[in-house]
Amino acid sequence: MNQDVSYDVSAIRQDFPILNQYVHNKPLSYLDNAATTQKPQTVIDRVHKIYARQNSNIHRGVHFLSNQLTEEYEQAREQVRQFINAKHAREVIFTSGTTHSINAIAYSFGEKYIHEGDEVIITGLEHHANIVPWQALRERKNARLKVVPINDRGEIQMDAYERMISSKTKIIALSHISNSLGTINDVKRIIEVAHQHNIPVLLDGAQSIQHQQVDVQDMDCDFYVFSGHKVYGPNGTGVLYGKEKWLEEMPPYQTGGEMIQKVTFDKTTYNELPLKFEAGTPNYVGAIGMAEALRYVEKTGIQAIARHESQMLRHATQKLQEIPGLTIYGTAERKISVLSFLIDGIHHYDTGMVLDKMGIAVRTGHHCTEPLMNHFGIEGTVRASFAMYNTLDEIDQLYHALLKVKQMFS
Ligand code: ALA
Repeated sequence: MNQDVSYDVSAIRQDFPILNQYVHNKPLSYLDNAATTQKPQTVIDRVHKIYARQNSNIHRGVHFLSNQLTEEYEQAREQVRQFINAKHAREVIFTSGTTHSINAIAYSFGEKYIHEGDEVIITGLEHHANIVPWQALRERKNARLKVVPINDRGEIQMDAYERMISSKTKIIALSHISNSLGTINDVKRIIEVAHQHNIPVLLDGAQSIQHQQVDVQDMDCDFYVFSGHKVYGPNGTGVLYGKEKWLEEMPPYQTGGEMIQKVTFDKTTYNELPLKFEAGTPNYVGAIGMAEALRYVEKTGIQAIARHESQMLRHATQKLQEIPGLTIYGTAERKISVLSFLIDGIHHYDTGMVLDKMGIAVRTGHHCTEPLMNHFGIEGTVRASFAMYNTLDEIDQLYHALLKVKQMFS
């Protein structure tokens, strides 16, 4: 197999202790990376060091530990800024993840800008996290939610999108990359069209941050959100990036300590960005751990990771297509390394259970995209999703394991 020789996947695997183990007496093959990625030792060590040597509440203390960790927390913000090429660090808000970030925007942006009869546009590819917060807003404000249809390859229908925009449209929220199908949306074109109508665009980056170079200024998105745990960082961490002009105008969606400037019983004034949106003690351990993960990705090289993953996608697509009766869902021209599939007559759950017994971890079900599954007239799929540390050998193992599954159920 013509593997990228400049990319040392076995060295990378050494950095991820969890990969080096057996499950059900079989070497673990972890192919559930769209759900969550594993953590390199540097991230584990960083989190450990904070609890062992540095822990202290930030932004509050006059003492050494508090000052030191406050500085590292703000350095983590700067690391995120660089990673996504935001203009200012104050445009980076730490959250607990993508779901938190989208809810915060739907609530805060919705409070300020959405009124009765206004419209929000999403697409048929969305994760529930980018559907339900807008439905809740629709109920609160008596607004409308419009859904751009997709084609059977799992791509957004651009003509329909352009026709759907109206003078009532206030925001467009869509996945940068689909979690279930792997489709890479043409977000630059989508944003360009939206901006011709002065409509802001929110990108759900939960599945893009770990797979390709993200440049929020180049894409010109108004909001970009992602989770730390999907980019090799700690669980319960995330980012809400917003252009300063929006964040300045939007009201806080949570109130409490740290987000204030001055409190009296009569009146409270709010803090400046980014603290206005970070009420309460933030997850500083997670944010610093996430920054360490971003450094690891940078060191490995996002372009090299992308090349390696597209090689795996090509190989996996080719191998799985050789299996009679196997249908791949999501055949967009531009995809990341996610393969959703079903084998004729075999329930996705059964396939997943048998693969598990062979040491192969995949996800089964609707992947939090029930409307998308409805589009294809299915209940769910088996989803194999690859990350920087997966190998072509693991794909061959998956292929042979699927042949066994077929044999068992025939
Ligand atoms: N959103 C995550 C997934 O696609 C959990 O699996």
